[in-house]
Amino acid sequence: MADDQLAEALDGADLVIIPAGVPRKPGMTRDDLFNINAGIVKNLCTAIAKYCPNALVNMISNPVNSTVPIAAEVFKKAGTYDEKRLFGVTTLDVVRARTFYAGKANVDVNTVDVPVVGGHAGITILPLLTEIKALTKRTQEGGTEVVEAKAGKGSATLSMAYAGAVFGDACLKGLNGVPDIVECSYVQSTVTELPFFASKVRLGKNGVEEVLGLGQLTQFEKDGLEALKGELKSSIEKGVAFTNAS
Ligand code: 2OP
Repeated sequence: MADDQLAEALDGADLVIIPAGVPRKPGMTRDDLFNINAGIVKNLCTAIAKYCPNALVNMISNPVNSTVPIAAEVFKKAGTYDEKRLFGVTTLDVVRARTFYAGKANVDVNTVDVPVVGGHAGITILPLLTEIKALTKRTQEGGTEVVEAKAGKGSATLSMAYAGAVFGDACLKGLNGVPDIVECSYVQSTVTELPFFASKVRLGKNGVEEVLGLGQLTQFEKDGLEALKGELKSSIEKGVAFTNAS
């Protein structure tokens, strides 16, 4: 998109949702999209810093585990970074975990609350389901299941549009002062030693009002948390290194 079109699209925006980039094909990980999508995200974030530096940013472009740190570095360089305003959209992981749990337990999905923490790729997606291994695996591989079912014709689209709309709507409710808006999101965090981590966050007039902790974890969840840290750490470092090298 030309710079003047970006200016027109972004000028005065309160919320920017970024789904740009290429999707996975069967056999690919989200990280395999890094080389193409990292540059796209960097350019868009440079334009956001210029035309709507105060907007909330919802990052959907994969690999989210790296594109959120890329955005943070771009905004830091531009002097506009506010960690309360940058979100990796992990809502689709929550949508999947709730759907799979409700199906298995034969209950109404609207009565189910499953926080999904960590990041947004493979084992970094950790649903806090209390020891239900099969559903953990299915939530972690839900995106891959769609990529394989579509056999080269793209990745999740309708479900991601739904998830993006749910999360964007929650951000707008927060900006409008609606109380107690809590969603999972991949944000700057001190919940673990990792600088970015997905967990429940309370949304408000400034974006993130509070990053909520993990609560009591079962041994299965503790093991999952330890297992995801290495991959998530290197995805974060990859995003930071990309921005600082270019
Ligand atoms: C998914 O989880 C596209 O990453 C997205 O399906």
